[in-house]
Amino acid sequence: MVNLEIEFCGVKFPNPFILASGVLGVTGKSFQRVIELGAGGVTTKSLWKNPHPGHKNPTMFGTESYFMNAVGLSDGGIEKAVEELGEYLPTRKAPLIANIVGGKAEEFRDMAQAIEEMSVKPDMIEVNISCPNVEDEFGKPFACETVTASAVTKLVREATKLPIIVKLSPNVSNIGQIAKSVEAAGADGITAINTIGPGMRWNIDLKTPILANKVGGVSGPAIFPIAVKAVYDIAQVVKIPIIATGGITSGKDALEIMMAGGSLCGVGTAIYYRGDEFWKEAINEMSNWLDKEGIKNLSEIVGVFHKK
Ligand SMILES: Cc1cc2nc3c(=O)[nH]c(=O)nc-3n(C[C@H](O)[C@H](O)[C@H](O)COP(=O)(O)O)c2cc1C
Repeated sequence: MVNLEIEFCGVKFPNPFILASGVLGVTGKSFQRVIELGAGGVTTKSLWKNPHPGHKNPTMFGTESYFMNAVGLSDGGIEKAVEELGEYLPTRKAPLIANIVGGKAEEFRDMAQAIEEMSVKPDMIEVNISCPNVEDEFGKPFACETVTASAVTKLVREATKLPIIVKLSPNVSNIGQIAKSVEAAGADGITAINTIGPGMRWNIDLKTPILANKVGGVSGPAIFPIAVKAVYDIAQVVKIPIIATGGITSGKDALEIMMAGGSLCGVGTAIYYRGDEFWKEAINEMSNWLDKEGIKNLSEIVGVFHKK
């Protein structure tokens, strides 16, 4: 039997496949369902300090190689989230990562504080500084500059003892540099990557953009090579672990991006392609390959491309 267990920032995950932020339902019931289907953990959609409306429909567009979304991070606010998560967390069967987002740096700190005060807390906090279709106070994601990325990380670090994982954007010239800056500011881990772009598609007959928001973040198989490179570049320069995310659609994709430096694998758009079966199938694909290679513990493969 192959052991797929992964320890990440002191938290044990039964397997490396975790639900990426924002992709499936957000209630306790849907988290429980994803775990029953085989996920090793779940991430909430991005939570805001105050209720946030999100963008108008249509918000999603998919092709066989990529999806574009402009959900706009709609949310009922941190108070409601704390209440809902408070009901779910005591009975959870696998780790839960609470993802937070803000338009101003201080909002991240306030939300981390609200989570820190919960009687049963999430296992870690993911800090989303990288959504490509939501503008922050500077008109671009905090993840685009070392100064802003590390400032947000520091504020969250001061507000909580929970592990904090900072989610980075691929839309930068040197993602390793940003990763180093958030590591120095106190991050315990990094998620890479958020969606790419934003991108844009049009209906040529109607001469209208396909998404109501005109632009949307690009995800799915087409971005996998960019995710592998981002994870590889980050793993070269930091010591903290990485949640590899972006276009993972199979057990073999997961093995490849883990060998590039990922410890866990965030999975989002693959669910639209492979459905509920994804989790068990990907686990089997991974186990079969490891078994064939005679590898007993999945953790042995993390970062092996760097050891050559
Ligand atoms: C419909 C949709 C909603 C998303 N919502 C969020 C979100 O709320 N917060 C966040 O940090 N990332 C969000 N993402 C980004 C994903 O978590 C992930 O980083 C990205 O889609 C790349 O992974 P994938 O190709 O496996 O989907 C969303 C992605 C999609 C497709």
